[in-house]
Amino acid sequence: MRGMMLAGGAGTRLFPLSRVASKQLQAVYDKPMIYYPLATLMSAGITEIHLISSPADLPIFERVLGDGRQWGVELSYGVQPHPGGIAEAVLIGEEFVRDEPFALVLGDNIFHGPVGLDTEVANFDSGAVIWGYPVDDPQRYGVVEIDNSGSVLSIEEKPQKPLSELAVPGLYVYDGTAVSRAKQLAPSERGELEITDLNMSFLGDGELRAVKLGRDTTWLDSGTHESLLESSNFVASVEEDHGYKVGCLEEVAFKMGFVSGEEVARTIAAMPPSPYRTYCERAILG
Ligand code: G1P
Repeated sequence: MRGMMLAGGAGTRLFPLSRVASKQLQAVYDKPMIYYPLATLMSAGITEIHLISSPADLPIFERVLGDGRQWGVELSYGVQPHPGGIAEAVLIGEEFVRDEPFALVLGDNIFHGPVGLDTEVANFDSGAVIWGYPVDDPQRYGVVEIDNSGSVLSIEEKPQKPLSELAVPGLYVYDGTAVSRAKQLAPSERGELEITDLNMSFLGDGELRAVKLGRDTTWLDSGTHESLLESSNFVASVEEDHGYKVGCLEEVAFKMGFVSGEEVARTIAAMPPSPYRTYCERAILG
């Protein structure tokens, strides 16, 4: 299965940081934010990845991530000229999707702990898969209501009166019909093609499943100054407490068998002297 990452959006809530670079290029503790969702896709065995961003930011992503060869993945890039919504990314990626299933992750979403994307990717047949994560403030997100057997009863975008405490994180798996379904969508009140409307299209056909995330998983959406700081603090505390890094792409690539020991050693040797390089040497090369 291939993967798409969306790193668009106006990012105005992060002004004046957003003048430096887009939200998904900001630091989350010791790495650019985009490293974390990229690690999520790679950890599920996904190696062909299409990143969509704005005309201004795309060259920076290309400089930071390159063609992905250093991590044994194939990165390609697509432009979203204006922030037209998450579902618009599906339309922009039409040629990449080629009517086949794909996973979509938002560039500002950080997952830590078991997500089960690998299982969903391995067992995926058709329809769409979303996740549900219990939060205190569901009205800020897409909200999914699930019955006892795991069937989706409803999904709503930023409801004033949420029907459940389950937020829908920015991680989705779709079959190839997502493109034709996205073509049918009309822009919402905020002028965007909403991912929740795409999910509702699958729900209407009985083709939407939801995976409930447990308390052993952490999901962070880093779109505000507070949540950006919270994400940095979270990553720092995991790394300090456990002595391993979250979202270290070289480590993920090596563990997944995307690169050989020799290849990763070459990548590490080209890094400037830094705590990150020291970590890679110790954790990967041993
Ligand atoms: C978007 C989606 C929302 C989802 C959230 C996850 O919200 O529209 O359904 O829960 O991402 O990060 P936005 O960040 O555009 O407000």
